[in-house]
Formats: sequence, C-alpha cells, structure tokens
Amino acid sequence: MPDPVDEIAMLNLAEIRAQFPALRPRDGLAPVYLDGPGGTQVPQAVIEAISNYLRGCNANHGGAFRTSRSSDEMLNYAHAAVADLLHAPSPDEVIFGLNMTSLTFQISRSLAKQWKRGEAIVVTQLDHDANIRPWMLAAEDVGVEVRVVPITPEGTLNEEVLQRHLTGPVRLLALTCASNALGTMPDVARLTRLAHAAGALVFLDAVHYAPHAVIDVQAWDCDFLACSAYKFFGPHVGILWGRRALLEQLPAYKVRPASEALPGKWMTGTQNHEGIAGTLAAIDYLASLGRGSTRRQRLVQAMHAIREYETRLLRCLLVGLRERPAWRVWGLTAENQLSQRTPTLGLTHVCRSAQEIAEFLAQHEIYAWSGNFYALELVEALGLGQGGGLLRLGIVHYNTDDEMQRTLDVLGKLD
Ligand SMILES: Cc1ncc(COP(=O)(O)O)c(C=O)c1O
Repeated sequence: MPDPVDEIAMLNLAEIRAQFPALRPRDGLAPVYLDGPGGTQVPQAVIEAISNYLRGCNANHGGAFRTSRSSDEMLNYAHAAVADLLHAPSPDEVIFGLNMTSLTFQISRSLAKQWKRGEAIVVTQLDHDANIRPWMLAAEDVGVEVRVVPITPEGTLNEEVLQRHLTGPVRLLALTCASNALGTMPDVARLTRLAHAAGALVFLDAVHYAPHAVIDVQAWDCDFLACSAYKFFGPHVGILWGRRALLEQLPAYKVRPASEALPGKWMTGTQNHEGIAGTLAAIDYLASLGRGSTRRQRLVQAMHAIREYETRLLRCLLVGLRERPAWRVWGLTAENQLSQRTPTLGLTHVCRSAQEIAEFLAQHEIYAWSGNFYALELVEALGLGQGGGLLRLGIVHYNTDDEMQRTLDVLGKLD
C-alpha cells in the first residue's frame, strides 16, 4: 500500500539554502546550480557526518573495539534509513556499493547465470546507459536476446509497444523511474505489473528520480531498485535494493570469507563507511523537511512538498521558454503532463550548440550540463546524437524563483 499523505509540508527556502555551503555567493554572485541531475550539492549535516565518522569512529566493521562497534552501529542506522527512503520491507535488503553502474554490473552477472539461450530481456531507449549496457553485456555472455523498447517522439514509452516486447520467455525488464535527460517518469507500477504478468523480473533505475519524488518498492512491487546518494544531496555512494528471496537465492560473486547472509553477501570488500555515514545524514536531512511520527512519514511528506515546489519552478521555466521560438524543449511540456515528469529540461537552440550554451551560462555563474548525459540511446533516438545533444537544466528543491528568472534572462541574450 502506498503511504498516505495527510498534509503537504511547506518548504522554507531560506532555511534550506542556509544549510548548503555551496549555495553561498562567491565574489558577490551566487552560483545557480542547475546541474543536479549530474550530482547535487550537500547540506552541512552531510559534510559533518562524513568528517565526524573519519574523526571519531574510522574502522573496519565487525570488530570488538569501540570504533568498529560504532561503525557497525552507523551501518545499521544507514541500512534502516535507506529502507525508509525506499520503503523496503527490511534494512538487510539494502546493499551499498560504489555507484549505481557498478552495482548494476554486479547484479546483472548473477542474474545472467540463470538465463538460457532462447530467452530474452527487455531494456528501453528512455534509460541511462547504466541500465542498458550492463544488461546487454550480460545477455551477450549467455546468448540471450536483448529487445530495446523505442521511445515515442515525445520521449515517453508507449505501453502497447512495451507489451509487445514482453512476449515469449522474457526474464527481465530494466526500466528507469525517470529519464535523466528529459525527466519523463513512466508509470513504473503499471509497467511492472505487465512485466510480471509476462514472467519477467523488474529492475528499476531510480537514480534520477530519487531527489524528486517518493520511492516505494512495495507499492511498485518491483524486484530490484538502484539509486545513488550523490543525486539526493549525499556523497558518492551507490544503493541497490532487492527482494529478499532473490538476494538470498542468487549466486553472488564474492570472496570466500565474506558473509553468506544479507546484506554482507552483496557488499563486496570494505565499504566507503564515511560515504555511508553521509548517506544516512542526507536521508535524515530530507526527512527533516517533512512532518510525521516516523522517518518514513517525514520522508513521504518532504518529497511531496519538494515535488510541488519543483513543479512550480519547472512551470516558470517552461512558460518563459514557450515565448521564445529559438528554443525547443524536448519531452513532456503541456501543463497536464507535468505530473509525469521531473523538473529536468532537455533543450536545444535553433542554431547554437548545447555546449556553446552551457559555456555561456557558465560565464554567468549558471551551472548546467550539455551532451547526452550517458542517455545515449535516447539522444540518438531523438536524432541529436551528431549535433552535440541537449542542454540540460536540472531543477532541485534548493533552487529558487529568482534563479529561474536569472536563467531565463541569460538564455534570452542568445535568442
Ligand atoms: C538515470 C541514471 N541512471 C544511472 C546513472 C548512473 O549512476 P552512477 O553514477 O551512480 O553509476 C545516472 C547518472 O547520471 C543516471 O542519471
């Protein structure tokens, strides 16, 4: 069951921004960070959690002495915090690792061991390459067919087309919760049901989605979900959740002395403890923006507030750009489609390259990415592969109305 939301919290932008040291003005002009989909800034609490860990309890886990015990305690808290963020049934189904890409390569190897020639897997053009290539390479190793679901010209997935790819012996659907290039959010709960009805497991990529909306692995009924803390105000740590039965039953590539029990079975080698401490602090930061008696309730409320606020900023950019014929915003742009996207805009200009625009923005202290952002299939499908790709304006909750106006003003100089 999805979590109920009684009341949406209001975000206090002044308080929020004061917590992020990177947002303070440098040489008079505060930078506008529209690079969130490539990695977000971190609040002071995350910086402190990382340095406090290194200062006060830096040790390997599982020892008898104080620092190791403190490390174990911190790790337990961090697994529980991620379980709250994802609505995972149990903290030991949460795996930490280097990043989403590495974790996906890792689990794809184990899953592929069970695939057989004659079977198929399904990936989509909407996805980042980290949720395509690991599966393609794993399929190649064992001679399994890979079917690629095309996107529509609007940058969405057509349900009937997807369903046609789910016929016969299909083992897996790898699907994004949100495109990191266009913001499109497919209905993952619905598509998961279709995949399950066809006998396929579902691996969801929530890397881009995580800072923008509520994740709920139980309501979505997916089998795996991956995300990365550096996209939701934390440090560079990857996260994988898997259904307990699958994590227990699948063979893990691991060293012999490592635990057979969850989560140790999947957490290869010594982990980035300071990063995990920072991840815990990032989740507690997000929870602090909401209200409720449990951390999950606070997280759900906070994410609803973030979603409402970010959509307002998105609308401001869309309205501003609509009046400018030199610009094209790709993906879903109509008012009644905003609930199906994150506030991440992929843009092109009639005659200027995305790189040129990103450099112009940078001269005005506005930080944005250009190119394909590893959403290679998508950018190629839109016919932008040769032309330098898209300019990406990625809004997160620490951005402001003034920043939207400043960005529109600077873009206006290029009209
Ligand atoms: C949607 C999406 N999926 C996957 C990734 C890869 O994540 P990581 O850098 O943690 O490997 C990214 C990174 O930009 C992304 O945006």
